[in-house]
Amino acid sequence: MCGIVAYVGNRAVAPLLIEGLKRLEYRGYDSAGIAVRTDTGEVSVKRSVGRVSNLEALIEEDQAGVQGCLGIAHTRWATHGEPSVDNAHPHVGKTKDGHTVALVHNGIIENYSALRKYLEGKGHKFYSQTDTEVLAKLIAELYDGDLETAVQKALQEVSGAYAIAVMVDSWPHTLVCARKGSPLIVGVADHAYVVASDASAIISHTTQVFALDDYQVVKLCAGPEDKVDGTGEPWSVDLRTTTIDNVPVDHEITELEMDLEQIELGGYSHYMLKEIMEQPEAVRDCLRGRVDLRDGAIVLGGIQEFKRQMVRGKRFILTGQGTAYHAGLIGEYLFEDLARVPARCEYASEFRYRNPIIEDDTIVVAVSQSGETADTLAALAEARERGAMSIGVVNAVGSTISRETDAGVYLRVGPEIGVASTKAFVGQVLVLTLLSLYLGKRKHMSNERVDMYLKHISQIPEQIEKVLKQTDHIRECVKQVANRENWLFLGRGYNYPVAIEGALKLKEISYIHAEGMPAAEMKHGPIALIDEGMPVVFVATRGTQYEKVISNIEEVRARGGKIIAVATEGDTNIRQYASEDCIFYVPDTLEALQPLLTSVPLQLLAYHAAVERGHDVDKPRNLAKSVTVE
Ligand code: M6R
Repeated sequence: MCGIVAYVGNRAVAPLLIEGLKRLEYRGYDSAGIAVRTDTGEVSVKRSVGRVSNLEALIEEDQAGVQGCLGIAHTRWATHGEPSVDNAHPHVGKTKDGHTVALVHNGIIENYSALRKYLEGKGHKFYSQTDTEVLAKLIAELYDGDLETAVQKALQEVSGAYAIAVMVDSWPHTLVCARKGSPLIVGVADHAYVVASDASAIISHTTQVFALDDYQVVKLCAGPEDKVDGTGEPWSVDLRTTTIDNVPVDHEITELEMDLEQIELGGYSHYMLKEIMEQPEAVRDCLRGRVDLRDGAIVLGGIQEFKRQMVRGKRFILTGQGTAYHAGLIGEYLFEDLARVPARCEYASEFRYRNPIIEDDTIVVAVSQSGETADTLAALAEARERGAMSIGVVNAVGSTISRETDAGVYLRVGPEIGVASTKAFVGQVLVLTLLSLYLGKRKHMSNERVDMYLKHISQIPEQIEKVLKQTDHIRECVKQVANRENWLFLGRGYNYPVAIEGALKLKEISYIHAEGMPAAEMKHGPIALIDEGMPVVFVATRGTQYEKVISNIEEVRARGGKIIAVATEGDTNIRQYASEDCIFYVPDTLEALQPLLTSVPLQLLAYHAAVERGHDVDKPRNLAKSVTVE
């Protein structure tokens, strides 16, 4: 969602903040801003609506006005108040003795309206509609010469979620940051600290990092040893981490395992395309060290300590949102089919609020790319409170979900930058497949059957490579139909969640209205939508329900629908129903593994449709990569 980057050190801060914002821009992008503590002793704030490049242009016009080595910056995705310059961060407040406090914030201050009334009563004048301005002014109100104390005191008054970075003009070498419910990472560099909501904004400065935990405040100082004139040597750095009640806490600095190249475009026109094309390698990375074909072993280190509890588990509840929810739906099929254990997948947002029944031996599996999705976190908290054991199936290492679950298996598919989730989906499905095989092996599956699955799983990377070679073919098909505003995506069994994921992919980046559903459901109403040339995408691979899917194709064809089919290599029968130019073939595999292949042509379909319609694929309108508000 929104992004934070902040710096205190010995380098000119403005260009460095802009570089960081560009790396974070994919998280949210309706407006952006920076605040710099200038060498002349003021806080200079620059904000603009739209892309970070607009802000960059604004700063270029007044470079002299942003000279300094301490600064904070933000990309915003509106929650309170429309996207506008006034609502963009940083927000400021005036202290009683006339100093300026500036603050950037991710999250939501839930009691902001009561706090705003209180502060108005104290004489503060508000210029924005945001909850963040309230927090800036509250810190200013409580400032009595010590920024760290003012932040601690203010956060004791606040309910909601926050990751914040704060500075004041009277402290030229100090940044104070804190978090509750929104991620914040501190990078420890030579002569400097870099703070960001996402490691991608830190990696070019340092790989030494630590993550703040909830209710923690960190005071970061970097400046000349006498901390006076901003020019002296030697340079000294110092940090102190406390709770918001001022109890000192330790932090462990770890090495960030992510290189910058990984998060750059690597020659592709969009991150989404890069991430689609990376999937063979992503699957190999996910499998590495986890599957041993020689002895049929499945090694999942992150659940090792909980394996008995998992095997005893009587019911699995999978939960997530969006694409992660669709992966969870496939997990529901996998857990029942392979592990023979009752499973259901639920939207995290619904699970959380419907008084769910958690019996003994219920295990909740939270599925998430970012590990920061607020709905999923809330569902997880609810499940844990009711006594469930929890497992995370998460991509972002060290993310909140990964830290708040009892056990977990990382996707290991590398950073996903494109807002439309692609390789993370395949990684989630693969990890859920491994988990269900792991349980199946310990419960009832014969070694031969497990071996057969593992052998087929090991072929998936090469099989995805074959699917990816059809990208031009898919683009040509898409050109025929990209102008149609209503599409259907249909599938049965394991391919039903693939169909709804295909529909989500298409709508989120091409803005075409698309619905996905079980193929049989179509004739219970949606069939009325079908008219001449309406694109209907069938996931029609060979399997137990192939003949039934063919009957559904017949029903659509009879009403003039344009059939687009994902079919199994060698299926010539399908040519009776769809023209060759709109059939995308996937190699044959076991039915339970088909989603790992059938989802890929649908990703390419959505990608080419969005490009054909001229949309910004990596930054679709109204969307953010990580949705950290409920
Ligand atoms: O980070 P998460 O996997 O928890 O995110 C969940 C959804 O917000 C996410 O999958 C979203 O639906 C994607 N934009 C889909 O492409």
